[in-house]
Amino acid sequence: MFLIILFNYILFNSESLNFIKKSYLLLYSYIFVVMNLLIIGSGAREHAFAWKIFNSNHEVNLFITNFNPGAIEIAKSLSIDVNNFSEIKRSIIKHNIKMVLVGPEIPLINGIYDYIKNDIEISDVNVIGPSKRGAQLEGSKEFAKLFMTRNDIPTAAYKSFNKSSIDDAILFLKNNTPPYVLKADGPAAGKGVIIVDNVKDAIRNLKEMLIDSKFGSSSNKVVIEEFLNGIEMSCFVLFDGINYKILPYAKDYKRIGEGDKGLNTGGMGSVSPVNFLDINLKDKIKNQIVIPTINGLIKENIDYVGFIFIGLINVDGFPKVIEYNVRMGDPETQVVFPRIENDFMEILNACCNQSLDKIDLKFKSEYYTNVVLASGGYPEKYDKGFEISGLENVKDSIIFHAGTALISNKIVTNGGRVLSIVSSDKDMNKALKKSYANIENINFDGKIFRKDIGFDL
Ligand code: AMP
Ligand code: GLY
Repeated sequence: MFLIILFNYILFNSESLNFIKKSYLLLYSYIFVVMNLLIIGSGAREHAFAWKIFNSNHEVNLFITNFNPGAIEIAKSLSIDVNNFSEIKRSIIKHNIKMVLVGPEIPLINGIYDYIKNDIEISDVNVIGPSKRGAQLEGSKEFAKLFMTRNDIPTAAYKSFNKSSIDDAILFLKNNTPPYVLKADGPAAGKGVIIVDNVKDAIRNLKEMLIDSKFGSSSNKVVIEEFLNGIEMSCFVLFDGINYKILPYAKDYKRIGEGDKGLNTGGMGSVSPVNFLDINLKDKIKNQIVIPTINGLIKENIDYVGFIFIGLINVDGFPKVIEYNVRMGDPETQVVFPRIENDFMEILNACCNQSLDKIDLKFKSEYYTNVVLASGGYPEKYDKGFEISGLENVKDSIIFHAGTALISNKIVTNGGRVLSIVSSDKDMNKALKKSYANIENINFDGKIFRKDIGFDL
């Protein structure tokens, strides 16, 4: 054993043996205790997963789907279509993967958990992510609404309609007051919620969704709900099927324009902690929302191991649920995970062993702020392939990559959201200043970002 440790030590401290090192690690993992873990997804959230796992004291051989140059030093990229489950299975077997951590919602909604658990060749693999039925909390707005109604969880009043009940839907809109909130029932890449302030636009959008299939089959059904006025925040819960832990709260800035104006995006920045969240509000969230959600999942026999992201709105001191997501948030993960002091592999292992209750979670009290750099034109049409310069000059911030690629040894833009610039300080404004100072030094053609992250806190 001593010789093995000595051999490992020499090998892992040698910079020149990259290929040998990687091959050896793979071989070693078959024989000894190194866990091979696959992260599904390739954005800044998944880079943050990889970063957190890399900082664990456990030996983990990390794989990540579809190249993200940010994670190049810490994970091996596998080129996989994340919705092609037989491809995922082949990779699980080939690389002896023992744990799969799922980032985005679509593979979960499509049933990756059930696929793995029902296949005898890979059913022993731990999946951090809920079953297909659990993922309906995000996959169907109506499912989520019915779940909340059954479990007495505060949310906006609603009614749902389909093509055959469109006349009732129009009447319902006419009898209500603006603003009107229309939601495609199914997943629509964050675009399925439409809020308009006059009934004419509401009816036009309703028809586009139900009759013209604006969001494909996702808008075969439309949920029309009460408009909630208040400040939004994100609550993250990790659930092992029996026990749960609430992770740090965060706030996300979804609109493209300053002052929260303009089109919705994937998220242009985030902050954690959320300073207006006092003990009283946290208690209400825990007692009125988190606990009933957990109890509901258990009571309804919904297989669920993984993250629950509860989008909340604080209406005059009364927290209400605007949506469930069955995964971590992006760009929130980039500020939530660095605040968790515990070894992340211990948390994930506890989650798989249903022993989360044994984990004493500790969070850093500092503020973490994330400013997202995006491509000009985003969230609409944008160009890609612009060289990103200045990354080597970054000081005092963590950079998580989202839409980047490595081409001819140069890092170039490769998506709408390009980089997350994450900084920390006891003072939120000082943390933001660090992110903005680094942003001055990072350049690419068309670079855009919001200058007012945290403006409302
Ligand atoms: P969702 O995709 O459900 O997160 O909705 C996108 C955004 O629409 C949310 O982040 C809110 O800003 C807004 N939204 C959704 N539902 C409501 C509601 N009932 N009242 C007010 N705003 C809402
Ligand atoms: N931050 C919003 C999301 O991840 O859906």
